[in-house]
Amino acid sequence: MSNPSIPPRARKVVLAYSGGVDTSTCIPFLKDTWGVEEVITLTCDLGGSEVDLAAVRQKALASGATHAIVTNVASEFAHDYVFPAIQANALYQSKYPMATALGRPLIARTLVEVAHEFGADAVAHGCTGQGNDQVRFDVAIKLLDPKLMVLAPAREWGMSREQCIDYLTQRGIAVTVGRSSPYSYDCNPAGNAIEGGPIENPWAQPPEDCYLLTSALANTPDEPEIVEIGFCKGVAATLNGSEMEPLALLQALNTIAGRHGFGRVDMVEDRVVGIKTREVYEAPGMLALITAHRDLEEMTLMRDVLRTKFSLEQQYADLVYGGQWLSPLKSAIDAFIEETQRTVTGDVRLRFFKGGCTVIGRQSPNGLYQYDLATYGERGQFNPDAAPGFIELYGLPASIWRQVNP
Ligand code: ARG
Repeated sequence: MSNPSIPPRARKVVLAYSGGVDTSTCIPFLKDTWGVEEVITLTCDLGGSEVDLAAVRQKALASGATHAIVTNVASEFAHDYVFPAIQANALYQSKYPMATALGRPLIARTLVEVAHEFGADAVAHGCTGQGNDQVRFDVAIKLLDPKLMVLAPAREWGMSREQCIDYLTQRGIAVTVGRSSPYSYDCNPAGNAIEGGPIENPWAQPPEDCYLLTSALANTPDEPEIVEIGFCKGVAATLNGSEMEPLALLQALNTIAGRHGFGRVDMVEDRVVGIKTREVYEAPGMLALITAHRDLEEMTLMRDVLRTKFSLEQQYADLVYGGQWLSPLKSAIDAFIEETQRTVTGDVRLRFFKGGCTVIGRQSPNGLYQYDLATYGERGQFNPDAAPGFIELYGLPASIWRQVNP
C-alpha cells in the first residue's frame, strides 16, 4: 500500500455505499487511516435492484458505520433523469444511453441532502481515479454545496482489489455480497453497464453469461411482439393503451424488449479522463423508448428544428456523460428541448423480433405528415406547378458557381 495523503480533517462523513469491495473498504479506511470520527453510509436504490438492500445495510453497520441509510429514489430517477434523457434522445458517442451517468447526479444530490441532515462536514465515494464517476460526483457535489469536502479514498489508497480484500479480512469484514462474478456491474432501470474480466479484450466477443436482461438470440421467441407506446409532450405515458408511470413503463419495456434480445451495446468508449475502454451495455427499455421517441419527433417536428435538436442532443450527451448535469449549458439545452416537446404527442408501434426493434407505425394529432400533400394518387393537394420556379431559385446559387467555375 502506498502512503495516501491525509486530506483536511473531516469529522463526520456521508459515504455513497454499494456494499461492494471498494465502498466496503472505505468505511474502515476513512476511520482508521484518515481519522474520521463518524461514517454514515448512504445507499440509493435507483430501482429494480436484485441486491438485498437489508443485507447491504447490515453490512455497512457491521463494517463500522454509525448509521446506514437506504433510500429508494427509483421513481424520481425515472421521472426526472431518465425520461428527460429520452426526450433528448441522449446517446453518448451515438451508442451509450448513459444509465450510469444519469444516476450519479441524483446520488450526489441525495448525498448532499443526507450530509446536511446529519450535519456532516464531508461526503465520500468509492470511485477510482480512472473512471468517469469520480468526475460526476465531485463536480455535482461542488456545485450543490461548495463548503462540503469530497473525499475519494479509493483514488488515493493505492491498494489493489486483492489488497482491499486482505484489508477487509484482517478487520473481520465479510467480503462477498451476492454471487461472485468475473464482471463488474452497475445496474439500474435505464440499463446495465458491464465491465471487467473477459470484456477488457475488445476483440473478444462478450461471453453470453455477462448479460442479465437480454436473451441470447437462440432463446428469443419465434414470434414477433408488437407494442404500442403513447407519448404526451415527449413523455412516454402509455404502454399498449394502459397508462403507466415512467418507472413501471421502463421496467415493463425492459422485460419485453429484453426477452427479444434487443438492447445490447458493445463499444469502445472515450472516458472523460482520456482513456478508451471496451464497454458492454444492455438497455432494452431505454433504447426502445429512444427509438420510438425519435420517430415521433420525425413525424411532429419541422426539419430545421429536428436538425438543430440533433446537434444539441450530441452536446447534451457529452454534458451528462461528463458530469455537467447542473451546468448552465445543460439547463439552456433543457429549455430548448422542453420547447420542442410541446407537440411530440402521439403513438408509436414497435415490433420486437430476434434482437431487433423496428418502428412499424406512428400517428399524432400534431403530425406534420399530410396525406393529401404526400400522396402520389390523383387527389393530391400539392401544386406541381409551383415546383419548377422553386427548383430554379433553389438551384440558382450552385448554377452561378458552376458558370463562374466551369
Ligand atoms: N462507462 C460507463 C460510464 O462511465 C459505465 C460505468 C460503470 N460504472 C461503474 N462504476 N461500474 O457511465
